[in-house]
Amino acid sequence: MIRFLTAGESHGKALVTIVEGFPSNIPISKTYIDHQLKRRQEGYGRSARMKIESDSVQILSGIRFGKTIGSPISFLIENKDWVNWQEIMNAEKKSFSQNKISVPRPGHADLVGTTKYNFDDSRNSIERSSARETAARVAAGTVARKFLEGFGIFVGSFVESIGGIYSDTDYFVQLLNNKSLTKKSGQDISINADKSSVRVLNNTHEKKIISKIKSAKKSGDTLGGTFVLVATGVPVGLGSFMHYDRKLNSDIAGEIMSVNAVKGVEIGDGFKTAEEFGSNVHDETVLEQNKFSRRTNHSGGIEGGITTGLPVIVRAAMKPISTLSKPLNSVDLSSMKKVSSRYERSDFTAVPSCAVIAESMLAWVLAKHFLIKFGGDSIEETKDNYNSFTRKYYQRIKKGFKK
Ligand SMILES: Cc1cc2nc3c(=O)[nH]c(=O)nc-3n(C[C@H](O)[C@H](O)[C@H](O)COP(=O)(O)O)c2cc1C
Repeated sequence: MIRFLTAGESHGKALVTIVEGFPSNIPISKTYIDHQLKRRQEGYGRSARMKIESDSVQILSGIRFGKTIGSPISFLIENKDWVNWQEIMNAEKKSFSQNKISVPRPGHADLVGTTKYNFDDSRNSIERSSARETAARVAAGTVARKFLEGFGIFVGSFVESIGGIYSDTDYFVQLLNNKSLTKKSGQDISINADKSSVRVLNNTHEKKIISKIKSAKKSGDTLGGTFVLVATGVPVGLGSFMHYDRKLNSDIAGEIMSVNAVKGVEIGDGFKTAEEFGSNVHDETVLEQNKFSRRTNHSGGIEGGITTGLPVIVRAAMKPISTLSKPLNSVDLSSMKKVSSRYERSDFTAVPSCAVIAESMLAWVLAKHFLIKFGGDSIEETKDNYNSFTRKYYQRIKKGFKK
């Protein structure tokens, strides 16, 4: 079983990731991890902090001569902004003269965190609940991504809408109709989306989306949106219906919902299936080129908690950024009086980045279930197990499943 932990505060010295459980001999480079970290930082609508950070990973352990060695992998990502926060984030001083934060921002973790952890300074909540932590997750997810790529599995994403302006609904419908996807489509989708500053595939709506972000910015407001994740090349048989916590769909939903500000997740046609006749929803099974396939992919590549062998398709919704420069009402926790919420440098929208972070989480879940099924202490052993399963599967299809 693979697992990872992250540590670090938004304006602390650094973020740390520890990844454990991957087989040895997976090729992975700093350049590849940095590439994914860069993708997380881009997108129109982010704050000036992104210009300060330009994330870069330091590999501390678990990788030697460009390959995993089976030991815990640890990463460090420096917070370049820390130099400006050394006083505020000091670990050893007893106190800091600057005022403590006592006005929680609605929609953020400020009030709940300050209440739950018995703080008198919301800074303690703000620092860890910030989405800065997701840089550390992307580093972990990149190990998973690289592992999957060795088996021809590619995870990608695109932004479908921002602030209610949809760009790619047609493409989403096409995906569910099982059209135009190859093994590498997951990667191609992201390469194309990355060409757009808001990560949309259809440029006709890019300008409209950007002008909506500009107008939100001007009026001191923020925006959310929806994005789609696609994993191609996924083999049949990942996940299980044998127990609730082994279902791939529930694991995916949980991990994507764990990304800051994500408020909804659908697998395949999701909520829309509830409005349709069964005949429009269930994907007819066909045998094509000695393989089971489905005429459509409304299930998003998962039936009974197990992958069907079709692309895994997930759609998610991100709420608007919580910090508004046009303040909402709040309560000052020191005076207990009604006040306007405070403002702290912030993004106006971060849907493009959120999609990249969610890609990492999807890669993580798929790698986890892949290793549960195929195991292996070295990548060679995992490959042997995978190839043996695939060979037997095709033999069964050829001969019929009768024993
Ligand atoms: C990539 C990314 C960037 C974010 N940037 C900000 C930000 O600059 N300001 C802010 O208030 N919230 C931002 N958020 C959202 C908060 O992290 C999130 O709303 C907060 O952690 C509360 O958690 P919840 O929305 O999951 O309840 C961002 C989220 C993501 C995924």
